[in-house]
Amino acid sequence: MYVCNCNGIREREVRAAIAAGAERPVEIFRLHQCQPQCAKCVCDMRDMIDQAHENLRFAAE
Ligand code: FES
Repeated sequence: MYVCNCNGIREREVRAAIAAGAERPVEIFRLHQCQPQCAKCVCDMRDMIDQAHENLRFAAE
């Protein structure tokens, strides 16, 4: 499933970028050597980043 239709960035690629340390959508775009176009995906990326951080927090407890 694509998270970013403009740049063809898939959900698994976003998760891989987050696992590699991306903490902001701009870092995900940078990793994929592209830039936001319409930016409709930015909120979804932020949600995925927040969810990953929350999962880490629960795992650490
Ligand atoms: S959907 Fe990602 S920039 Fe448009």
